[in-house]
Amino acid sequence: MCGIVGYMGHRKAAPLVLKGLQRLEYRGYDSAGMALYENQVVSLYKTQGKVADLAALSNFKDANQSIGMGHTRWATHGVPSDANAHPHSSNSGELTLIHNGIIENYEALKKLLVGKGYVFHSDTDTEVLVNLIEEVQKSHQYQLGKALQVALSQVVGAYAIVVFDTKKTDELVVAKLGSPLAIGMGDHEYFIASDASPFIEYTNKAVYLEDHQLAIIKQDRPPKILSIATDTFTDYYIQELELSLDAIEKGGYKHFMLKEIYEQPRAIKDTYRGRLLVEEGLIKMAGVEEHLDKFLNTKRIIIVACGTSWHAGLVAEYILEDLVRIPVEVEYASEFKYRNPVISNQDVVIAISQSGETADTLAAIKLAKEKGAFVFGVCNVVGSTISRATDAGAYTHAGPEIGVASTKAFTTQITVMSLMALRIAMAKESISVAQFKEIVNELELIPQKVEIALLLNQRILEIAHTYKTKHNCLYLGRGVNFPVALEGALKLKEISYIHAEGYPAAEMKHGPIALIDENMPVIVVAINKGYYDKTVSNIQEIISRKGKIIAIVTEGDTTVKELADHVIEVPETMECFSPLLTTIPLQLLSYHIAVLLNKNVDQPRNLAKSVTVE
Ligand code: G6P
Repeated sequence: MCGIVGYMGHRKAAPLVLKGLQRLEYRGYDSAGMALYENQVVSLYKTQGKVADLAALSNFKDANQSIGMGHTRWATHGVPSDANAHPHSSNSGELTLIHNGIIENYEALKKLLVGKGYVFHSDTDTEVLVNLIEEVQKSHQYQLGKALQVALSQVVGAYAIVVFDTKKTDELVVAKLGSPLAIGMGDHEYFIASDASPFIEYTNKAVYLEDHQLAIIKQDRPPKILSIATDTFTDYYIQELELSLDAIEKGGYKHFMLKEIYEQPRAIKDTYRGRLLVEEGLIKMAGVEEHLDKFLNTKRIIIVACGTSWHAGLVAEYILEDLVRIPVEVEYASEFKYRNPVISNQDVVIAISQSGETADTLAAIKLAKEKGAFVFGVCNVVGSTISRATDAGAYTHAGPEIGVASTKAFTTQITVMSLMALRIAMAKESISVAQFKEIVNELELIPQKVEIALLLNQRILEIAHTYKTKHNCLYLGRGVNFPVALEGALKLKEISYIHAEGYPAAEMKHGPIALIDENMPVIVVAINKGYYDKTVSNIQEIISRKGKIIAIVTEGDTTVKELADHVIEVPETMECFSPLLTTIPLQLLSYHIAVLLNKNVDQPRNLAKSVTVE
């Protein structure tokens, strides 16, 4: 988490850095800061709060400096405060640094530096790092690049950093391990950022730094990239980015979250486009194709993920087991690493991650690879760390997801996993050709059906008005819609701060039923499939205890309509694809409740979109 931006070129750095920080604010928004640099003078601005608070500190339009760096923070070490905001300066004031990541051994390093007379003004690990570089520089008379290289060899943890030295008027030095860092390659100007969004309107050429690399950036020549471990300069690959400015702007919507909810028909279509060949009765996925033997020969598949991606993994478990008949386990990536899992080179591990940067998921991938498993990644962000750390993979094509609460990532992850399940099932002949055709025909219709589900918006807004003041909420679902209940509850708590819990409908009687009274809204996914009658019985049980029912049902339902306080009808589809439709009203309900409660929908408190700490 944390967003970093840097610039060196012929433009005014301040407005560019500010705009870049706003685009990276999804990564954290506890404090913001900026350093501008010219003629050996550093001007430092920082404040607790958001980028808008930083913008209010000074008239940045008049700042003429053309070298600058900025930071938007998700607090790890030290509370959100002005003092803990980045950039941080070294004791001499000569070095200025921004950092995304965590220096795990910062306490030991700090003790060492305090012993040498260094004084600290913040609680951050970052201030330790900048002073460590200074100490190395001073004791060996090293240039900044060399000092950084030596200092980083003493550091345990993760970092993407930008640093400048007042003794070097035309140089920025950056380094990466674990946290992402992209260098935008302009014409005699260079941009540095956690992702490409801060510089996409200036250049579509970017170099993604690899782990253990350091780059020395000067205006008058291309960057030099050094491998920290081998101390050699390396070649690098300049990527042509396809990201468009439209994709990272709100496009007339009040919030990114709403825009992203409405983008789902397009996003799902983009995800299956070119892969789902309905006419030919084929699914083409290069990543799966090339490693089909792994999927066909494995005795089990383990899915690792966090948050919403974990919920998509749970949906995939149902679909894979149903179609492919291979046992699937779904693990929280954060737990996977800590229980010495039994993994071998016979296993296939699928890591699902929107950002492709989640540290827990990355740690699980590393462990699985160490144990010899074949690891397949399902990511949204092209070129992200997870997409590079896995043996093969498939991208979702959701486009940038900026709202912190994940929406289109969920539905496109399910789409990718469905395509994979179908492709493997076809090869394994675990489904018939007729079944395959029927399923792919239905998948092709899903975007249209999502459009219809989105028409429920006004009706859901009315329901949101009724329930916005409740303090608790229960979400129930069965089968493939149990993860939808979990996801619905997660969305509500993330952005409205209302306590919500998702449960398998049948489990309600083993505990949560004790909570039900006339103040408890219960959202039940009761589509006309599988265990419909049993879900109806659960609804009766809730009504007997005076709970309020908001039911998500299949179009044309009559039974639940008679019973529920509110009924939301989604189009008929196959059970396996029903989460792609039932989740839409739940996303809209959370959105409207949060807006009515005046919450910051796109940047909910304490959260960040990309969690790069374990
Ligand atoms: C954070 C985000 C969630 C997301 C989770 C996993 O907690 O706030 O929205 O689901 O990370 O992120 P990933 O990028 O790995 O899918």
